[in-house]
Amino acid sequence: MPAIAVVGAQWGDEAKGHIIDLLAERASLVVRCQGGPNAGHTVVTAQGTFRLHLVPCGALRPGVRSVIGHGVVVDPFGLLDELDTLAAAGVDPSALALSERAHLIAPYHRQLDVLEERARGEAMIGTTGRGIGPAYADKASRIGLRVCDALSPNGRQELRRAARRAERLICSFDDGTAIDAETSPGEDIDRYIEALERLRPYVGDTLTIVHDALDRGETILLEGAQAALLDLDTGTYPFVTSSCTLVAGALAGAGVPPSALAGAVGVYKAYPTRVGTGPFPSEMDGATGEYGATTGRPRRCGWFDAVTARYSARLNGYSAVALTHLDVFDTFPTLRLCTGYRLRGAVIDRVPPLAADLAACDPIYEELPGWRAPTTGARAVEDLPDAARAYIARVEELVGVPVALVTVGPERDEVVRLRPL
Ligand code: IMO
Ligand code: MG
Repeated sequence: MPAIAVVGAQWGDEAKGHIIDLLAERASLVVRCQGGPNAGHTVVTAQGTFRLHLVPCGALRPGVRSVIGHGVVVDPFGLLDELDTLAAAGVDPSALALSERAHLIAPYHRQLDVLEERARGEAMIGTTGRGIGPAYADKASRIGLRVCDALSPNGRQELRRAARRAERLICSFDDGTAIDAETSPGEDIDRYIEALERLRPYVGDTLTIVHDALDRGETILLEGAQAALLDLDTGTYPFVTSSCTLVAGALAGAGVPPSALAGAVGVYKAYPTRVGTGPFPSEMDGATGEYGATTGRPRRCGWFDAVTARYSARLNGYSAVALTHLDVFDTFPTLRLCTGYRLRGAVIDRVPPLAADLAACDPIYEELPGWRAPTTGARAVEDLPDAARAYIARVEELVGVPVALVTVGPERDEVVRLRPL
């Protein structure tokens, strides 16, 4: 009964969507396990480029079923938008199931997200503003509403009560009423319930779907969102997201027992990126080469950081690494790899718990020659320049996990398979 987890190994946006889509070719079920519409998973198919936020990437493979597990926080408006976009592009989303136990994001969660960010001032996290933190906070405080609660006969009443409580909280911020000028959260309830009713056909017992698939010996993919350095416990707190982004969180959020796990793929980008604030020791000065799939914000770019990379591998126990976007280096004369940090004169190779300490770390680099040749056409390891192979081998050595697959472009076939996954 094999389940395979695919998780982000750095600060997010590692092209997990590409890897999950490739693996989904041989899976029967893809499960989103945690996080919410803060994720932006891009998949390029013959039908076009899809940016998925809540819908699992398996939805783009005909015959593959998709599950939004109970560990995910769901914004009904966002999910409906996504389903409409998919339908308009000719993708049939009917094989989607949404957990009745998933917690809901309401408009007031998004308002609170923005207000809390403003209140942090200079210490802002740079959240996606999607209400993720406030929704998970309600869940942990046991005052959250799940899909099944809101769709129950008492749903309207419970939503109203929750909105009133949130309204009081919103008004406790100095600028709380300014943001909430036109509508009180309570007045959105009709629209909110209408959206939920439209989602009702998808709502079901996803635990039984997952467990039955495991019993039948089918291959299940656990689609991780965010990444190890954004994990609530092991990430660069407080500059993190509000869920467990590790393999452990994927299992918990899907309801899959650890004994069913057959493999864990860590997705690393050849050059890590970070959106939002927070420490990033191997950041390249002023380099923001790309833009986020969820918020369109510029991403900070850095050199491969073996310290955080090894940390994430030990936390997740990867059976294989997928190294993405190798082609970005095609024109670089030299490449750097961060192998350690210098903190107040001492050399360290661990991730310190204080964000201020990690921010004060000076990276120690080793340099490798670039290959200055296009790799986008490579399909087999022999097609890669020697210097590219040397770079991959060094990454493998530093992380301590074999690299099974390298991507050299966003298309489905722009992949070099080095080992079976
Ligand atoms: P995928 O799945 C990159 C970042 C935000 C912010 C911090 C907290 O596409 O890799 P939140 O809205 O979660 O409270 O924001 O986490 N963040 C991501 N960065 N990719 C993501 O998801 C992210 N999800 C959250 O930028 O720094
Ligand atoms: Mg993203």
